[in-house]
Amino acid sequence: MTAPKKLFIKTYGCQMNVYDSERMAEALGGKGYVETKSADDADMILLNTCHIREKAAEKVYSELGRYKGLKAEKPDLKIGVAGCVAQAEGEEIMRRQPMVDLVVGPQSYHRLPEMEEKTREGEKALDTDFPEEDKFETLKGRSKGKRGPTAFLTVQEGCDKFCAFCVVPYTRGAEVSRPADRILSEARELVDRGVREITLLGQNVNAYHGGMTLAGLIWELDRIDGLERIRFTTSHPNDMQDDLIEAHGTCAKLMPYLHLPVQAGSDRILKRMNRSHTAESYLRLIERIRAARPDILISGDFIVGFPEETEADFQDTLALIEEVKYGTAYSFKYSTRPGTPAAERPQVDPAEADDRLQRLQALLSRQQREVQDSMVGREVGVLFEKTGRFPGQMVGKSDYLHAVHVADCPKQAGDLARVRIVSSGANSLAGELIT
Ligand code: 5AD
Ligand code: SF4
Repeated sequence: MTAPKKLFIKTYGCQMNVYDSERMAEALGGKGYVETKSADDADMILLNTCHIREKAAEKVYSELGRYKGLKAEKPDLKIGVAGCVAQAEGEEIMRRQPMVDLVVGPQSYHRLPEMEEKTREGEKALDTDFPEEDKFETLKGRSKGKRGPTAFLTVQEGCDKFCAFCVVPYTRGAEVSRPADRILSEARELVDRGVREITLLGQNVNAYHGGMTLAGLIWELDRIDGLERIRFTTSHPNDMQDDLIEAHGTCAKLMPYLHLPVQAGSDRILKRMNRSHTAESYLRLIERIRAARPDILISGDFIVGFPEETEADFQDTLALIEEVKYGTAYSFKYSTRPGTPAAERPQVDPAEADDRLQRLQALLSRQQREVQDSMVGREVGVLFEKTGRFPGQMVGKSDYLHAVHVADCPKQAGDLARVRIVSSGANSLAGELIT
């Protein structure tokens, strides 16, 4: 028997990349690869990349630079670039970094085994197609081992919204939903392997239409014994259908957490962003969601310094945030992405954009802290994921996705328990079991 070859995957960007990296590892598992945590002893290094902002893409090139020495020492080492930078830059990557052997876009990673063979024969392998075949089906069921209590599951991919700043419609392609029966059988398999919580993934997950709506799919998942929690991300405000809002009030397994990006609070900017909703329509939507599930924790994404954003526009964003009260949020300085419509518009002074980002993040951090502190004294569900830093301590996530520590905890990873929150720290809560 030959020794297994070692595969090191470094994942950048969103949760879908985390899911994709698992699938790529499974695909190469069929070629005798096992994963390693260190690049130094790898036979193949794969960077699963993100192209959403300029910094994310540049990181890939500097990381590749670091592997030059390794490749010189070990000529048999294969280096691959996968994900959205691979899709966007294609052959350019091999031009800039000739030691790269393989470039594979997010829609072609089921072809990795053949591509790997090609590299072993000393050839370069490049595939950035949007193929007809179903990559998920091609890779199905390769791994059966035990897993941790939480898992991601891609149900929908790509986007047809074309927000003026965003590369996703170009790198991930048009919106495609996976058939519900395949998702359900993958979910059952995950539960058989120990998973208790599934997060359904999609760039526009609430636009899901694989034979049913996302709410329909959630109700089907609700029937799987052993699956305790369901989450989904990322949603677009315009696809927040009535049945999904209703499910937040009626489906006990659907967690009270919703990531609903608005990006900006000024209608002038939202229009230029091609968001096709207004600040007011977003606020009314949040009201309806909270009417269905009053304790829901709302999360969002924000961009500051979008082309032509004025101080008055920015103030509208702050006002919207004040009204919503976010439990958590992700905020970014606008980053010019070549090929997107906003790249052609007059840009905001970078120092001004930095200043706005700081002010926005100060407000969001304050809100986040207030929401977290308001959990003290409450009873929440916690799904334990791992042991903590101290003996006997367990760490898990609350229904609202806060990290919760419990001291002297007899529970194990995968156990779900009711916990009373007793204090709120810098980034997590502490609680005690309710017995
Ligand atoms: N610049 C800054 N942030 C961006 N995002 C998407 N494209 C850009 C860009 N060009 C942010 C949006 C999106 C999140 C995933 O990344 O807020 O919701
Ligand atoms: Fe990008 Fe999301 Fe807009 Fe689609 S909806 S273009 S993924 S920001």
